[in-house]
Amino acid sequence: MTVLVTGGAGYIGSHMVLELLEAGEKVVVLDNLSTGFRWAVPASVPLVVGDFGDEDLVTETLARYDVESIVHFAAKIVVPDSVTDPLGYYLNNTAKARTLIECAVDSGVRNFIFSSTAAVYGDPQHNPVMEDEPLKPLSPYGRSKLMVEWMLQDAANAHDLHYAVLRYFNVAGADPKGRAGQSTAQATHLIKVAVQAALGHRPGMELFGTDYATPDGSCVRDYIQVSDLAAAHMDALRYLRAGGENITCNCGYAHGYSVLEVIDVVKKVSGVDFPVKISGRRAGDPAAIVAGNDKIKSVLGWTPKYDDLEQIVRQALHWEQHLHRMGTANSARIAPAKIAPAK
Ligand code: UFG
Repeated sequence: MTVLVTGGAGYIGSHMVLELLEAGEKVVVLDNLSTGFRWAVPASVPLVVGDFGDEDLVTETLARYDVESIVHFAAKIVVPDSVTDPLGYYLNNTAKARTLIECAVDSGVRNFIFSSTAAVYGDPQHNPVMEDEPLKPLSPYGRSKLMVEWMLQDAANAHDLHYAVLRYFNVAGADPKGRAGQSTAQATHLIKVAVQAALGHRPGMELFGTDYATPDGSCVRDYIQVSDLAAAHMDALRYLRAGGENITCNCGYAHGYSVLEVIDVVKKVSGVDFPVKISGRRAGDPAAIVAGNDKIKSVLGWTPKYDDLEQIVRQALHWEQHLHRMGTANSARIAPAKIAPAK
């Protein structure tokens, strides 16, 4: 019995693969390498290069590896891009996910764990936000994910398919053992950008908005460490295998930091006072969003280990330095000599 990880060559997926291997699971990765990296997949893990919307390829992969569970990470994730290219997002994140779910049902895959997002809540009325709050996504990205949540609910009602939907808040940091991290040079995420500024890999950074109704005027987010997030997926997998009911959980620490606080921590940890330009608000940013996490803790038994912003920033800094040492921060070109060839 094997676990199929779509997007396993990407940021969160590559941490999930490590988590699964440490738990002694058999794993196969399906990734089209559009944003992931071949070298991010350990040599012991088969990598199928292709699209999760390719019905024939997925069906063949599910059969060949005797797949029992799917953890579906592969997606387009840049919120502003989803505003300019909504149909691209609905094709990739929604329509292709429908194909993947159908293949899962037709092939008798029992468990499906889905990467959803806090973006399904939009700008929540209450924080921490609970799973049963109204769902009002502000972007095509959020809607493209929410539609998959609905498809999974309906498919699970009709078929022998069991799901866990995990709504991620702001994923950050890197593998504490230094084996994986966020490798996309063009990433737009706050901690990645600030770390690049601290290391001089970019001239500085912009801070989008200081006039929000938050304690210091900048946006507040709940930054969850990526290995803690991968561990939540393992907990969800064990739960489903034990016969747990279909479930939707927030993934976050139930407390947040403002953008200004994050920048201060990056400056403190790096020892570099990099330039920060105060700019206007970025379209579609909610003022504050923090995860209610009672459910994931009580039902899945999730116990976070890295709820420490300084540690998260340190991990991100180390990974960025590692990428840089390898010769490029965008690494299709990272030296294959150091990296086991993919299968
Ligand atoms: N920010 C800056 N400057 C930057 C980058 C970000 O000031 O260079 C600010 C943003 O305006 C925002 C905060 O930092 O206030 C966090 O921004 P990110 O881009 O790091 O993350 P988001 O909160 O926009 O989005 C993240 C995920 C989405 C997910 C969303 C759910 O990237 O996939 O959380 O809340 F949908």
